[in-house]
Amino acid sequence: MPQSLKIELTKNKKQQPAVDQLGFGNHFTDHMFIMNYDAGKGWHSPRIIPYQPIVLDPAAKVFHYGQTIFEGLKAYKTDDGRVLLFRPQKNIERMNRSNERLSVPELDIEPTIDALKQLIAVDQDWIPNAPSTSLYIRPFVIATQPQLGVAPSTQYQFIIIMSPVGAYYSEGVNPVKIFVESHYVRSVKGGVGEAKTAGNYAAGLKAQELASAKGYSQVLWLDGVHRKYIEEVGSMNVFFKMNGTVYTPALTGSILDGITRNSIIHLLKHWNIPVEERQITIDELYEAGRNGQLEEAFGTGTAAVISPIGELNWQDQVLVINGGQTGELSKKLYDTLTGIQMGKIADPFGWMVEATKVYA
Ligand code: COI
Repeated sequence: MPQSLKIELTKNKKQQPAVDQLGFGNHFTDHMFIMNYDAGKGWHSPRIIPYQPIVLDPAAKVFHYGQTIFEGLKAYKTDDGRVLLFRPQKNIERMNRSNERLSVPELDIEPTIDALKQLIAVDQDWIPNAPSTSLYIRPFVIATQPQLGVAPSTQYQFIIIMSPVGAYYSEGVNPVKIFVESHYVRSVKGGVGEAKTAGNYAAGLKAQELASAKGYSQVLWLDGVHRKYIEEVGSMNVFFKMNGTVYTPALTGSILDGITRNSIIHLLKHWNIPVEERQITIDELYEAGRNGQLEEAFGTGTAAVISPIGELNWQDQVLVINGGQTGELSKKLYDTLTGIQMGKIADPFGWMVEATKVYA
């Protein structure tokens, strides 16, 4: 695949947005990567082309049965001009696990990362360098076979688009308010909750809309069976510091296996801070909140990075965490993780991968 990568450069470079106008996911770079899959032929025709609309048959299976997977990762520009990717292999590995769950053909990991590096090299002028900014990378697969039978598609497109971004939440790195959802559920064990597929996000929109009308940034999902175990927030995994130990919900099958989540667990262990992955009930969390044992809460995700949680609302019971302020640990984790990502502090784990041009 990589040997035959074709590159067509744009003749109309776009005007880039000012760094303080970025927001999240509003602007797209000059180029995109695309390749096709046909049953019997495999993935083929990899190409970098000017960013443009894609034309699909209205019968394409993705529109009807939602056979689609996406990923999210980031590239950073260091002060000395290097371009760094954060654990890209993990994203493509997770994409393949999601693909497997939705009967989408897997990608070859190394050539996919090479294609990504090449795309970044082409659009490297788009990577911002200001604090809290980065280039958000969105790889995705869609089922394109024009056929209405409910069966895995025989044709797909894999596409990578890129967007210079600032903070995901309008609060920036200040604490967010989260609504604990009691009526709707996101996913159940055995479903597709572990997969990064569009339907999981569509399923959450109604609850998010209702929470937003009440002044909350996002919802915290409880498990779909007992409605008592904490799962995740719409775009983040969650962590709670109680009595000196940091807890995060165990990966029981309905929660996204977050790469930032995994990195935070690594960092905490590296600092000898007790960290446990286990089931956490919402009752237990509120009890800890009432007893003064809930010290901090924060969400983690590629888009959100580390987002302190200042308030929860569960069945009209408001729980203010750490006086609604960013906790010391959340701040230290944010500073360390973003420091490693921006190449400002040492990377003891070998997480950062330099994105240099792969093909001449
Ligand atoms: C990410 O953090 O990359 C995500 O996938 C969240 C996204 C849905 C905004």
